[in-house]
Amino acid sequence: MSKKFYITTAIDYANGSPHLGHAYEKVLTDIIARFRRLIGDDVKFLTGLDEHGQKVQMSAEKAGVPPIEVCDRLAAEFQGLCAALHISNNDYIRTTQDRHKNVVQEILQKLFDKGEIYKADYNGYYSVRQEQFVTEKEKVDGKWPEIFGEVTEVTETNYFFKLSQYQDWLVDTIKTNEQMIYPRFRSADALQFLKEPLNDLCISRPKERLEWGIELPFDKDFVTYVWFDALTNYITAAGYGTDDFDEQWPADYHVIGKDILVPPHAVYWPIMLKALDIDLPKHFLVHGWWLSSGNKMSKSSGEVVNP
Ligand code: ME8
Ligand code: MG
Repeated sequence: MSKKFYITTAIDYANGSPHLGHAYEKVLTDIIARFRRLIGDDVKFLTGLDEHGQKVQMSAEKAGVPPIEVCDRLAAEFQGLCAALHISNNDYIRTTQDRHKNVVQEILQKLFDKGEIYKADYNGYYSVRQEQFVTEKEKVDGKWPEIFGEVTEVTETNYFFKLSQYQDWLVDTIKTNEQMIYPRFRSADALQFLKEPLNDLCISRPKERLEWGIELPFDKDFVTYVWFDALTNYITAAGYGTDDFDEQWPADYHVIGKDILVPPHAVYWPIMLKALDIDLPKHFLVHGWWLSSGNKMSKSSGEVVNP
């Protein structure tokens, strides 16, 4: 019987057209997938689209259309890119699919039932660009760094996932598992981040502020945080909750850019899996950036090369 090999790319945000960075990540992943097929592995190659969250809601508002219309148009563009580049993925996930919503709600409910998620009041600063809460200590020379975009003060009740209790476990896991993050020097970025005490992760957004997301199964006034939703795609596509899952999981490689290693992939994702008693992916393959005028080519900056 041939060996299973499961490889994924990041799922692209549905907030703009693909650029050279997205093309590069898909080609890089495709090379590994094709090589594995050549040596006889049974390859599952997943890519897809990350469709929820404030950025997508805002670009839909700007265009004056429902968010799903923006997503459908971009899904066609990104899938067109895969076809044009002969990317050999055999699954394409969209986070608005029912198979995905069901899994996200199932794991939220599980974590809530296990007492890993609690409700609390929060007041602080929120970055729309990064879709996360930020703290004063992240200011540089008294100002919020450019990468945060607009930062506003908010007070609200939210649900939190108990990340902090897994900090020692995670540090130990990264240190002892030298093959986990490749290239190896990027482990240092994760370990550096983990030198500071971890805060619990706010995993909800009130619907009055953000409607475009997956509803919390235990509180219909909230949707879940876009990263909690997005990371889960990797287990959805492996058939979480079905008999296939044990055959498909763990992933052999998550291929991602260096901007999304810490904290989402190296901190949130391993802890989510640990809390759910699911094995960790074997490797993260972390690549660098294509630049444009010396800066990261990005949808938000608009300075992009169309592949
Ligand atoms: O981060 N050069 O989506 P995204 C190389 N939805 N790679 C680049 C790049 C560049 N200039 N710009 C982006 C997201 N990328 C999330 C991911 S995964 C559960 C959720 C890479 O559209 C980036 O590093 O901003 C990431 O791996 C992928 O393209 C999608 O970026
Ligand atoms: Mg990005």
